[in-house]
Amino acid sequence: KLSDKICLLRLDFNTENNWRMEAVLPTIRFLIKKCRSVVILSHKGRPQQIVKSRMSKVLSRADKGLSLRPQAEQLSRFLDKKITFIEDFDFVGIRRKVFSAKKGSVFLLENLRFLEGEEKNSVVLAKQLAFLGEIYVNDSFAVSHRANASVAAITKFIPAYAGFELESEIKNLTKAIKDPKKPLIVILGGVKIEDKLQVYDNLKNKASKFLIGGALDKKLLNLKLKKALLPVDFSTEKGRVMDVGPETAEIYCKEIRKAGTIIWNGPLGNINKNKFQNSTKLVAKCVASNTKAFKIIGGGETVMFLKKMGLDKKINFISTGGGAMLDFLAGKKMPGIKALK
Ligand code: 3PG
Repeated sequence: KLSDKICLLRLDFNTENNWRMEAVLPTIRFLIKKCRSVVILSHKGRPQQIVKSRMSKVLSRADKGLSLRPQAEQLSRFLDKKITFIEDFDFVGIRRKVFSAKKGSVFLLENLRFLEGEEKNSVVLAKQLAFLGEIYVNDSFAVSHRANASVAAITKFIPAYAGFELESEIKNLTKAIKDPKKPLIVILGGVKIEDKLQVYDNLKNKASKFLIGGALDKKLLNLKLKKALLPVDFSTEKGRVMDVGPETAEIYCKEIRKAGTIIWNGPLGNINKNKFQNSTKLVAKCVASNTKAFKIIGGGETVMFLKKMGLDKKINFISTGGGAMLDFLAGKKMPGIKALK
């Protein structure tokens, strides 16, 4: 019975491009159709400045770049519908606006990380947010590893549910790690070294090989990880490692071709520079051409790269999570998911 309800919808619009927004369009459309109105909550980036007054107009230029106004405009284009962007944090005024709006209205609040309480999981802020609606839906898997007020604490004050995308993330990632079609190959690149080690620990009994690339520091290279394949050659610039080399990419591809399940998070090299994209390109092609494997990729950079190569359609599931996907794979409790339970 949603038709008379105002729904708060937590999404993650924290990307330069729109792919995360596209992934949750089915949820947004569903709730617009079913609910009285929808109030979207999100964060963007990591603002340096906290809004002391109620207005986001007082922000520095750098933090102004973290306004969600462009996302309101983009969402409006996707849905072909007016989205009312609310840039102040006058919660009493917002509630008045939302509760008096006509059926089918959609609102997007300004970046919640402009408020001090968001990242502190403040119950005061959570209560203020909960006051703006009647039910709450979390469809922001990518931030569900953060104990933030609009992700975790808010569920104490209002009936809370998982959105379609969050549900699908949990189902697909669970499928890949709980009882994977063997052999399970896990490709870990990118920068977050600690997270990679935790994923290794959690999956080492299920996975047959871990293929490691990305920003490799000495700590990782010196560890004796039985199931990890480490690079045997590198591409460098001014003495710095920028990519794994062609021989490594070829060795990794051999493993990928045999896989029954493939999980990939993080590029193998510094793909911001064309000349260091080679290994990630080759591995992407090998992953895509293994048609018998169940394949999941995640992490913003990896996803965008595969999309640019036109290979994303060959992947069974694209996770919207970066750090969140790694935490899930590492078996960590995720505050946003725990709160819904
Ligand atoms: C992400 O992009 O991974 C999420 O939005 C979380 O962002 P954060 O790492 O700044 O919390």
